[in-house]
Amino acid sequence: MNATVLLTSVDINIPGYRILRPIGEGGMASVFLAVQESLDREVALKVMSPVLAANAEFASRFVVEGKITAKLQHPNLVTVYDIGSHNGVYYLAAEYIPGGTLKERLAEGGLSVGQILDIATDIAQGLDFAHSKGFVHRDVKPGNVLFRADGRVVLADFGIAKAMDGSNSSTVAGASIGTPDYMSPEQARGEPVDGRSDLYSLGTVLYELLVGTPPYQAGDPFTVALMHVTHPVPELPEPWQWLQPLVSGLMAKQADQRFKTGAAFVEALHQLLATAPQGAVLQETNTRKPGSGSRIASGAATQQRTRISAKRSASRPAWFWPVSGALLLFVAALAGWWLLSPDAAPDEPQATVDAPAVPPPAAAADNAPVPAGFELPKAVDAPDQDELDRLLNAGDQLFEYGTTVELSRKLTLPDDDSALGYYRQALALDPDNARARAGIAGIVAFYRSFAYKACVAERWVQCGVIVRAGLAVDDQDAYLRQLQNAAVDGEAGGSPVLPPAPAPN
Ligand SMILES: Nc1ncnc2c1ncn2[C@@H]1O[C@H](COP(=O)(O)OP(=O)(O)O)[C@@H](O)[C@H]1O
Ligand SMILES: [Mg+2]
Repeated sequence: MNATVLLTSVDINIPGYRILRPIGEGGMASVFLAVQESLDREVALKVMSPVLAANAEFASRFVVEGKITAKLQHPNLVTVYDIGSHNGVYYLAAEYIPGGTLKERLAEGGLSVGQILDIATDIAQGLDFAHSKGFVHRDVKPGNVLFRADGRVVLADFGIAKAMDGSNSSTVAGASIGTPDYMSPEQARGEPVDGRSDLYSLGTVLYELLVGTPPYQAGDPFTVALMHVTHPVPELPEPWQWLQPLVSGLMAKQADQRFKTGAAFVEALHQLLATAPQGAVLQETNTRKPGSGSRIASGAATQQRTRISAKRSASRPAWFWPVSGALLLFVAALAGWWLLSPDAAPDEPQATVDAPAVPPPAAAADNAPVPAGFELPKAVDAPDQDELDRLLNAGDQLFEYGTTVELSRKLTLPDDDSALGYYRQALALDPDNARARAGIAGIVAFYRSFAYKACVAERWVQCGVIVRAGLAVDDQDAYLRQLQNAAVDGEAGGSPVLPPAPAPN
């Protein structure tokens, strides 16, 4: 059986879709950019290999799985729009994700530890959601992780692996899916899997992102599959050893010794960030300074992969800038880390670190501009004043909390229960509402000030993360962009000149 018999665009005639161009090819499918004519939208049209389609079991599973996964809607999962068959050609139309795959990004190199943790968080969140609905992905691998235009990553191909698994019982257990590099021990043994199998695969991806190669390597796929079963959990090399609890918690041989959920992994990551030994996160950045004689420098084999290359500071890829919402979740933890750090702004009293100089929203000018890039929702009828007050009060309360008590907490996340969320809901009712506008401007001002403190302390990774949180609110903010440049230069070992401290709004 030759699974690589693939279709070309010429062969394909699927009613309702106009093929624009091929965008990729996997072992079992060809993927095209197409237009779904009824809605005039671009889609990724995945056309399954005729070899697979010839298998009746596959065909029925494909449709069943597709229908089910189409119900999975989450920012970190590719949305399935449509699925079906025409003249024996099985196809699936999914959200077109333009930014390329993680596999490609890995090959390019140059991901920073911050970005890597961001990516792992995004994947874990997508998995957590799907697992909570009872779905297992079964094929978590860099080729199935796609970059959105805003830099967030999404997981593609939910459910497809299951359809393929069942159809290929003749192939070696699990190998039907393709590479065994990311396969869990239970998959390799052909045993039933649950969400923890996906978490194992996430662990292998995290390992590869940090180290540059998958955890187990051998001359043939069977041996690699076996190594997942028999070999010890791989050790991260020294510069990333502080992240070992994450890899160990994901890649434990026994599923019941792994993190129970994607959310548990994210939580563990946050705790690790908050309690990381002083300098652990900075290590990957500051030690890159030329001639620093760092431990990273001696970890030469692995250094190349995660080093922020000079190339990156000269011309950063488009996906680098935009915000990953998941990274925002780090900020609360980073705030804790900041406060715990013995040398956090030693010349400043703690109180000023706790509460950057940001005026309360109500004190801001009535005509405070809505940050650029933020679209005002359309007005509905006359705003309901009680509802408006409720939203504004809720927003102000969380603003107060997130700028004075637990820094950054609930300022922008979650969407439906954060200061930003309430202010935006208020603007949806009353697009000119000055209090809501001032509140949003206040959040941006908070991040300017918070990020500035991190940059001044040359905590470049931390500064970059905080800046990204602020840019999530207003991605055009010129001051935040200046700090972002500085953070990137600083991470790359440069000595950026910082702008003056931000004006108090
Ligand atoms: N939803 C999508 N949006 C954009 N590109 C996609 C999408 N799905 C798949 N691709 C592209 O098509 C390629 C092949 O996809 P696929 O058949 O799933 O193979 P693989 O299993 O190697 O990821 C991917 O590597 C990716 O470049
Ligand atoms: Mg795929």
